Amino acid sequence: MDFQDVVRRRKMVRRFGPDPVSDAALDRMLANAVHAPSAGFSQGWAFLRLETPADIEHFWAATMPDPEADNDWLTGMRTAPALIVPMSNKEIYLDRYAQRDKGWTDRDEARWPVPYWHIDTGMASLLILQTAVDEGLGACFFGIPPEQIPAFREAFDVPDDYIPIGAIAVGHPEQGGAPGSPTRRTRRDVDEVVHTGKWSQ
Ligand SMILES: Cc1cc2nc3c(=O)[nH]c(=O)nc-3n(C[C@H](O)[C@H](O)[C@H](O)COP(=O)(O)O)c2cc1C
Repeated sequence: MDFQDVVRRRKMVRRFGPDPVSDAALDRMLANAVHAPSAGFSQGWAFLRLETPADIEHFWAATMPDPEADNDWLTGMRTAPALIVPMSNKEIYLDRYAQRDKGWTDRDEARWPVPYWHIDTGMASLLILQTAVDEGLGACFFGIPPEQIPAFREAFDVPDDYIPIGAIAVGHPEQGGAPGSPTRRTRRDVDEVVHTGKWSQ
């Protein structure tokens, strides 16, 4: 698919058909993810790949356990045949930047203008979303409620130093999922957000 089409066709998909996602497609999404840029080439990320019905059910039970939560969003999202959970690890960045070529041996977090560990894992996540489109699939990045992160870790033996920055549902797009915010809000115009030369023009 043309790159411009990948960018413009990517929309979050919140309901999926019953066909599984091929191993090859998931392999490619993850292989592309690790080509994301990362600060200091730290690559402080990890990805949990879930593709069996039992694992998918385990994920939803751990992260959205409210039996009352019978809503359109969850009903649609639970149809996803595959999930990828991208996780970031701050310690890997602090270790990497304490090395000789960087020299931040005090590991002081105040040195970081923004948390690069989350940024890099977010960039990897976008590559996953874009690769899904290129594979003719749909995907949705969504948040895991903070109070459910311990249960998520326990369910999948995830070490404490890895933080799930969200989760990505993947599958064959189907109509009828929960409508996203773009149905209620307009995209901000490029001229409104780009400041050329200086802020006020
Ligand atoms: C960091 C982040 C968190 C998001 N969290 C959720 C979420 O919890 N649930 C959801 O349905 N969509 C979530 N989204 C998707 C956004 O709602 C969506 O990207 C936005 O409305 C624009 O729509 P589009 O991606 O289809 O163009 C998230 C997106 C990002 C980047």
